[in-house]
Amino acid sequence: MSASEVADFYNQLNNEKKDDRQGSRIVTMRNFNNWIKSMIIQEATGLIKDAESGPPRLIVLDMCAGKGGDLLKWQRGPIDEVIMVDIAETSVQQAQARYNESRNRPNSHTQFGAQFIALDLTEANLFPKLRRPMFFDLVSCQFALHYAFRDEAALRRMLYNASGRMRTGGYFIGTYPNAERIVHLLRKTTDGKYKNDVLTIEYLDKSVKNWSTLTPPLFGARIFFSLEERVNCAEFLLYFPLLVEIAKEFDLELVSNKSFPQCIDHFDKQDQRQLMSRIKALEEIPIDEDKLANIKENLHGAKRYPIEYAHAEKKRRELQGQVDRRGVPCLGTLTKSEWETIALYDAFIFRKTDTPTVKTEE
Ligand SMILES: C[S@@+](CC[C@H](N)C(=O)[O-])C[C@H]1O[C@@H](n2cnc3c(N)ncnc32)[C@H](O)[C@@H]1O
Repeated sequence: MSASEVADFYNQLNNEKKDDRQGSRIVTMRNFNNWIKSMIIQEATGLIKDAESGPPRLIVLDMCAGKGGDLLKWQRGPIDEVIMVDIAETSVQQAQARYNESRNRPNSHTQFGAQFIALDLTEANLFPKLRRPMFFDLVSCQFALHYAFRDEAALRRMLYNASGRMRTGGYFIGTYPNAERIVHLLRKTTDGKYKNDVLTIEYLDKSVKNWSTLTPPLFGARIFFSLEERVNCAEFLLYFPLLVEIAKEFDLELVSNKSFPQCIDHFDKQDQRQLMSRIKALEEIPIDEDKLANIKENLHGAKRYPIEYAHAEKKRRELQGQVDRRGVPCLGTLTKSEWETIALYDAFIFRKTDTPTVKTEE
C-alpha cells in the first residue's frame, strides 16, 4: 500500500454522505473517539498554558487532518492559527470549505486563521509550503501516525515534519491503534484474521506458518483494519516502543501514552463526563425494565443483547437493587465488540525537549 493508494482511498471515501455515517452502527464509537480527541487536545493546551513561557494563543499543526473533523475542537481552544495538512486533496478542500462556512456564519466563533495544504507528510518537507515562517506550539496527528510505519524513511520524514518547526516545550499529541494489542489478538487465531461484531483485522502476509508466535517486522507489517465490514485500505502496525526511540532523535520525549480505557479513568477524575454525554459518546441503557424493553430493539447490539451487553446488564441489575438511584436513570456503555475495538487504541503526548538538534532546512 503506497502513500498515493492511501490518498486515493480517502479521496473516494469523501463521497460518503453524512446521513450514511449517522445511520452507522458505530456512530457512538465515532462520538467516543471524538470525546477522546477533545480530551487530549484540552489536556495538551492546558499543559502549554500552565508553562510559564506558554503563549496565550497557540499555533497548531493538524497533521493528516482529513476533512477537518477537529475544526470545532480547535475552535474551543485558545487558538490563533491552525495549519491543516493531508495527503488526500479532496479532504483538504472539504476541510477548507468547512472552515470558510463556519467563519462566514453570523456570530461565528471561528476566530482563528487557517491554512490548508495537500501534502504527503511521509515524503515531502512541509516547511517551504507554509505561508510564512512560524513555530508550532502544538502538533496533532489523530488516527493516522500508523500510516508512517510503511518504512523507516516514511516515519522519519513524518517526525521531521512534526518536530522541525515545533517550539521548545511544545507538544505532539495523537491517537493510534496499538500493534502489541493487535498482535495479541492475531496470535489467538488460526488464519491471521480476527473478527467481532464491528471489527475485522486481517494480517496480510499469509506466509506466516504459526500464528501463535506471529512476530511482525518493525516496519511494513500490513493489515486490514475494517470497521463494520467497510472495505478499508491497508494500514501498518505501529510498534510504540520503536516510535519512542526514533522520536528521541527528533527531540521528542514521551510524556504519556494511555490506552483509551485508561483515558476514560484519567479524564473521569477531571470531571469530564459532561461533554461525553452531550456528544453521545456512550450508548444509553435505561435502568428501568419497562424503559429498557421499549428501546431494546434499537440498541446497536440488539440482536446479541445477552453477549454484547452482558457487562452493562450486570451493572444495571446492581443499580436496580439500590433504593435511591434517582440521579441515575441510564447507564452509558458501548457493546462488548465496541469496547474490544476501542481498547486497541492509545493516545500519546510527547514534549519537544529543551535542546533542539533537528535541522529544519535541508
Ligand atoms: C483515519 S483518517 C483520520 C483523519 C483525522 N485526523 C481524524 O481524526 O478524523 C487518516 C487520515 O490520514 C491521512 N493520511 C494518511 N497517510 C498520509 C500521509 N502520508 N500524509 C498526509 N496525510 C496522510 C488520510 O488521508 C486520512 O485523512
